[in-house]
Amino acid sequence: MAGSLPSADLKVTILEEPSPKDYLQIGELAELSFIRFGHYREFITALVRERGVVTVIIREPVRQDDIVGFLLLGFIPVAGSYIADIMAIALEEAYQGRGLGKQLMDWAMEAVERVSRSKEVRELRLTVAHDNKPAVSLFRRYGFAFDRTTDLGNYPSGVPASSMKVYYYEDEE
Ligand SMILES: CC(C)(COP(=O)(O)OP(=O)(O)OC[C@H]1O[C@@H](n2cnc3c(N)ncnc32)[C@H](O)[C@@H]1OP(=O)(O)O)[C@@H](O)C(=O)NCCC(=O)NCCS
Repeated sequence: MAGSLPSADLKVTILEEPSPKDYLQIGELAELSFIRFGHYREFITALVRERGVVTVIIREPVRQDDIVGFLLLGFIPVAGSYIADIMAIALEEAYQGRGLGKQLMDWAMEAVERVSRSKEVRELRLTVAHDNKPAVSLFRRYGFAFDRTTDLGNYPSGVPASSMKVYYYEDEE
């Protein structure tokens, strides 16, 4: 069973030159993970192909390098600065609750921190369902708070979508 596999072998890596199998697996994992919100297979696969979006993954070495988790991070240029956006994060169900979500988030927070040393990053944002407890408590750990000034409406399924953000401030001159 997945629970008995050593977590030490499960590492976050940047997805470079994805294979057709990688796209299929990410699409499938997105479809299953986000089905409560709508059909996300094509949408997430298209984002992975997009320039300016970095995809990090966790592979399962015992299972032919299958992808069991991913996170997509984008940087959106806005009036001379950037908004960083965690566009998606998901782990296969059997791999949840083992600290892998934290590993993906650690990577994203460090990446944003690195970029913010040379570019102005205004904020880091993401979209979540308010009642998605595992996700909301994970994001809170990293300093995210609900942004009630942004009305994102609903996911395609009708579930309300909420915005969570971390704000970055310019150093004092
Ligand atoms: C959200 C998700 C990525 C979390 O990943 P994970 O690997 O299970 O999380 P971790 O094991 O790293 O746990 C990290 C923290 O998340 C929170 N968390 C994880 N599972 C939780 C649960 N079932 N209930 C409450 N909090 C939970 C806790 O704060 C936890 O820290 P702790 O263990 O010190 O208490 C994962 O549950 C998932 O893929 N869900 C389905 C897809 C999804 O909803 N994605 C988010 C859409 S915005």
